[in-house]
Amino acid sequence: MCGIFGCVLKYGNAAPVIHAALKRLEYRGYDSVGEATLHEGRLYMKKDQGKIDEVHKIHDLDDLPGSIGVGHTRWATHGAPLQINAHPHTDCNGQIAVVHNGIIENFSELKRELEERGHVFKSKTDTEVIVHLIEDKIKANPSVSLADAVLETLKRIDGSYAIAVISTREPNKIICARNESPLVLGINENAVYCASDIPAFLPLTNRAVIIEDGELVTLSSDGFEIRKIVDSTLVTRATKLIDWMPEMAVKRGYPHFMLKEIHEEPSCLRNTLRMQEHYLELMSSFLDRAREVFLVACGTSYHACLAASYMFSKLAFLATYPVVASEFVEQHGKSVNIDSTILAVSQSGETADTLAAVECARRRAATVLGLTNVMGSTLTRVSRVYICQQSGPEIGVAATKTFTSQLSVLSQLALRLAKKRGKISQDEMDFLEERLEKLPETVEVIIQKQEGKIKQIAKKYKDAKTFFFLGRGISTATALEGRLKLMEIAYVPAIAFPAGESKHGPISLVEPGFPVVFICPKDETRKTLVGNIMEMKARGASIIAVVEEGDEEIEKLAEDYVEVPKGIPEVLSPIAFVTPLQLLAYYMAVEKGYTPDTPRNLAKSVTVK
Ligand code: F6R
Repeated sequence: MCGIFGCVLKYGNAAPVIHAALKRLEYRGYDSVGEATLHEGRLYMKKDQGKIDEVHKIHDLDDLPGSIGVGHTRWATHGAPLQINAHPHTDCNGQIAVVHNGIIENFSELKRELEERGHVFKSKTDTEVIVHLIEDKIKANPSVSLADAVLETLKRIDGSYAIAVISTREPNKIICARNESPLVLGINENAVYCASDIPAFLPLTNRAVIIEDGELVTLSSDGFEIRKIVDSTLVTRATKLIDWMPEMAVKRGYPHFMLKEIHEEPSCLRNTLRMQEHYLELMSSFLDRAREVFLVACGTSYHACLAASYMFSKLAFLATYPVVASEFVEQHGKSVNIDSTILAVSQSGETADTLAAVECARRRAATVLGLTNVMGSTLTRVSRVYICQQSGPEIGVAATKTFTSQLSVLSQLALRLAKKRGKISQDEMDFLEERLEKLPETVEVIIQKQEGKIKQIAKKYKDAKTFFFLGRGISTATALEGRLKLMEIAYVPAIAFPAGESKHGPISLVEPGFPVVFICPKDETRKTLVGNIMEMKARGASIIAVVEEGDEEIEKLAEDYVEVPKGIPEVLSPIAFVTPLQLLAYYMAVEKGYTPDTPRNLAKSVTVK
């Protein structure tokens, strides 16, 4: 995710301070970097694609004059990772500069409007609308203060943002603001800082002020002033002493990246709900036209594909074939053809097996569509159309937040296709869209209410030698993912399969105390699933159930249960039901003394076949 930084210094040059702070934000992941400073009525700027050290070697990031400035590390979302798209972005006259972390949902409309009024855009980013809007406000009312021009601009913006703005008009100020994207201030006797994250200024000060959603801040050498964007009222906020070690700070106080990333799922899901409509529209048109559709991926991404095959079938009446990428060439290499469409799903966009399947399909003239988290990755380059899921970098090796986001995007795609094909009533569509909108909150509630309980369950079963994970229908994908998480980070052998298969063989493994995790949404499969739970119980299995709140029947059958909120539609259920399983795997690994972020023998991006 992008990182922003700004500083107003009483003495000395801002550029080296910004440069060092951006280095400390590197862990957030980025593809481009930039800085802007103010000095003697002029704005100075340097930016380019590439890592900070590479860009510094070419441009000397420390060589910008002035004691006030902003900086940015960019993780591309709108617009490829190119110099022109790197932040800061400036207005038409090069007098205002902005850095931004977040997504502007209504940028297309705003851009059109601004272009009609003569503004010239230099980049393909959503961010650039912010700086032209500020310019516009100032043009319309030349006596307006910079802070008020920014405040009025933000009232026109839908989406998430943490921004920092500087201008030659008021060369001793930084205006920053936040909605959903993180923003913190750091204070010491000689400077004020704003940043996406505490590590950016931790070596300079341990006094921080946390900015809340809907607040705008003016920074100057006198300190800071916080106002509410909605009505300009002043806010008083005390400083907080931060006692984190730098290593803890990059994990925002969480002991591991994996736990931090599970906790980020609600905000990542919100990002997927801000996707540009036309990408969904374009992709669903390709899917609609295809004679056959393969959903191709590895590992966790394959489980997203498996869940998606149920979504496409149930909502849009489209049969799709989920295929493990490493098998694609063997299984379909000869038959895939110009009428086939491949939807490749890869968080990294660099997985060798997935890219090999894509290459095979491309050679045979099939249409390639991509879903990835990394803009500029190979998958984005070889896809006819791609969607970037905007989850931010995932550092823990085990995929968590990227999985739930993949599911959200795929369910939106299935819904769009269902609408296109006339397979869904308006009422059903409205209902599903409303539930989809609520999912971030649902996942938040699950984490809040169930994490403690899951920790206890992990303690209880930490010495179990093996586990079953069972579900029916779309929950088969959830079961497979729960099992993969447990195996890969807690090193517990586990088996997952559709619950109906147990009596065809695996049930012979069950003996008293054998832990069986059941995924139990209240869908059409539930009645049969209760039968499967009984079969396991009759053989002495210990049932751990993930159920809907108040599902007393299953709660009574289970030794242990975890509840998710009521009323999650079947096609969306994996998004909510998998979070408890990710937490279970995490706490099992911790209980067993393993480091969940870096499981043995595994790499985050598997670039060999
Ligand atoms: C499991 C995990 C892997 C990846 C797989 C595909 O937690 O992370 O199974 O899902 O290697 O990776 P991507 O999605 O980058 O293609």
